[in-house]
Amino acid sequence: MQRMGHLVNKRIVVGITGGIAAYKAAELVRRLKDAGAEVRVVMTPAATEFITPLTLQALSGRPVHVHLLDASEESAMGHIALARWADAVVVAPATADFMAKLAHGRADDLLSTLCLASRAPLLLAPAMNTVMWEHPATQANARLLRERGLRLLGPAEGEQACGETGPGRMVEPPLIAETVAGLFVSGVLQGKTVLVTAGPTREALDPVRYISNRSSGKMGYAVAEAAMEAGARVLLVSGPTALTPPPRVECVTVESAAEMHEAVLARLAAVDIFIGAAAVADYTSAAAPQKIKKNDARVALELTRTLDIVAVVAAHKPRPYTVAFAAETENLLANAQHKLEAKNLDLVAANWVGRPGLGFDGDDNALTVLWRGGQAEWPAASKRALARQLISLIAEQYHA
Ligand code: PMT
Repeated sequence: MQRMGHLVNKRIVVGITGGIAAYKAAELVRRLKDAGAEVRVVMTPAATEFITPLTLQALSGRPVHVHLLDASEESAMGHIALARWADAVVVAPATADFMAKLAHGRADDLLSTLCLASRAPLLLAPAMNTVMWEHPATQANARLLRERGLRLLGPAEGEQACGETGPGRMVEPPLIAETVAGLFVSGVLQGKTVLVTAGPTREALDPVRYISNRSSGKMGYAVAEAAMEAGARVLLVSGPTALTPPPRVECVTVESAAEMHEAVLARLAAVDIFIGAAAVADYTSAAAPQKIKKNDARVALELTRTLDIVAVVAAHKPRPYTVAFAAETENLLANAQHKLEAKNLDLVAANWVGRPGLGFDGDDNALTVLWRGGQAEWPAASKRALARQLISLIAEQYHA
């Protein structure tokens, strides 16, 4: 039950297909909500014959999605947006028919389309008549789905609504909810301390003005959360953002590049892995003691270089495994490669900035990741999904 806490703020799509166990999905939705998850329910039309969308709407607090080609549902949140929104998709109950559809890549209703369009982990809780479950066709589909990385939970054994006894009952909702929570806990960084920087810095010009940048902190906060889910103790040094720190992450907020540098140095001794996702100012100004008056037609600002925090970390003894982000508007690969060498880093996650929808501020990003001896291209996905991918790679490289 300890890991139920990992559901706080997680976005879970609960898919319900048309079987007698559909009524139990109501309890699953309630348990996920109670554990702090945001839940959206997607039902197949057949499922609505077993339990009403109204019940699930009341429990999830959100309209229920049923139809693929319904203009009002698509305008509220289209199937692609829903597929991207999800941190995990759980289909409970999953009928034999639905498993067959998934195994063969069919997408003729909202739920199967969403499953095909989502990169989020997918968990199925099969429920069907025993003979259907044991049929070679269903067994072959189950095998195929497992081979593709889907997780199947159950079915459980026991007496069934149709009078048969044997495997086919849906696993009980508390166990499904706990298994969903377990999707967010990998343990690959168990016992490690990870320090993440996030957000912008503000360099004061006078008591009321500053220079800053468009960083929202979303990328860095997602990385901190993913490291926490991987079992690490996470220290987050954050510039000013509008975000709430992820649960169980130790967050300290700073304003300027100098304060961020100081906060990082003060915590570095115990750190195993450093990840610089903050957009730290490269230049700062000596702040005027009083508000600058608009007496002159032109004002010249003198800016001086800030200390490069990530380079300081990479030169520190003992040296943590050091990761930087690289924000580029041109020559992404060459510039990222140069940063890897020049700053003596272990890994660089490079992203385009200044292009709509990715990089600064949005919920999505795309990364080119470079490390000594390897490279990967990760196409556009949510920052949370990319952060989990990045943490898995960092853990792999760190342990290697
Ligand atoms: O916060 P979001 O809105 O989600 O946007 C995410 C992001 C675009 C800010 C993030 O993905 C990102 O790219 N962060 C790094 C931004 C940056 O400053 O990149 P850079 O290429 O200028 O710097 C390279 C590295 O040096 C970075 O790890 C940076 O933290 C570090 N640095 C830079 C200057 C400085 N004085 N000290 C540093 O440590």
